[in-house]
Amino acid sequence: MLDQIENIRKDANLALDLCDSKAKLDEWKIKFLGRKSKLLSILKDIKNLDPDLRKQVGSLGNIVRKELETKFQSLILEIDSGKTREPSLDDYTLPGRSSSIGRLHPVTQTLREIKKAFTSLGFQIAEGPEIEWDKYNFDMLNIPENHPARDMWDTMWIDEKPSIDGYKMLLRTHTSPVQARIMENQEPPIRVIVPGKCFRYEATDSTHEWHFYQVEGLAVDKNLTFSDLKGTLYEFVKKIFGSSIKIRFRCDYFPFVEPGVDMSIYWEGKWLEILGAGMVHPEVFRRAGYKDPNLTGFAFGMGPERIAMIKHNIDDIRLFYSNDLRFLKQF
Ligand code: FA5
Repeated sequence: MLDQIENIRKDANLALDLCDSKAKLDEWKIKFLGRKSKLLSILKDIKNLDPDLRKQVGSLGNIVRKELETKFQSLILEIDSGKTREPSLDDYTLPGRSSSIGRLHPVTQTLREIKKAFTSLGFQIAEGPEIEWDKYNFDMLNIPENHPARDMWDTMWIDEKPSIDGYKMLLRTHTSPVQARIMENQEPPIRVIVPGKCFRYEATDSTHEWHFYQVEGLAVDKNLTFSDLKGTLYEFVKKIFGSSIKIRFRCDYFPFVEPGVDMSIYWEGKWLEILGAGMVHPEVFRRAGYKDPNLTGFAFGMGPERIAMIKHNIDDIRLFYSNDLRFLKQF
């Protein structure tokens, strides 16, 4: 009985929304509040119910009747005052829209895997600013002003005019400046990775974006060697891709390491470079204020988008940031 009254209330409200003239309102009144209406019949028969139910039905029935009468009166006034009433466009009979559950972006998933692999090897995770001073992006990394190596990173300058202490502001072109920030504030031993966004003023193609992530790695301790660097990277690659993947190291030049290398993975019939690395240059230690001659270190900077490309067999890096749901829903 109580359900019946609730249903009447719902139907009456829906029907009232569609009344845009006095004639329709009169019809509505007869149907929902008239002597022969369902609501009035329920209230008339109330005396035959159990006392408990009688109380509940009477109370709800009268509330609904008053509510409908009040709405009716205010609509009559609205229509009498000449206001035009648009019938409601809501169609409550349409099926509902199911909401979809979001998921992690493929690059975020890869970043999480990278972080997991390195934390299991004893590395900590640090972060640094995306808007950076050229002091950290270049100078502290042994790339002074006018050094030709600055051209290796096509920089987006925020303000070309020097400000604090003569330094200029830029969007960091790599995560290596965080190496310098960490060494400035922390004594060895250090084992840290730094995931973060980088920006370069460069033409895009299937393996280059103008904004992309890097994960920097830095280890500083007594007597670390190039074997430690290679061993760490081999172990990392095994954790991410399994042991059957083919990797290659080649000599490369970065002013902040000596010797320097890049590492590529064999994929789809060719080598794809995924990182640059090397032994921390003594000049970088000197600039950070480290004096112990027995200190050595290794560093690397890898591209998680490229790693995600190899993992999921994606042939164009630009797909990651084109916001195409057909692509993103596959992960
Ligand atoms: C660097 O940025 C060095 N900072 C890496 C490094 C760190 C060397 C520490 C030595 C010691 P490079 O420009 O090669 O190096 O970039 C490193 C990696 O970032 C590349 O191997 C690639 O995986 C990724 N990367 C670079 N440029 C792009 C780009 N435009 N789009 C997508 N990924 C990129």
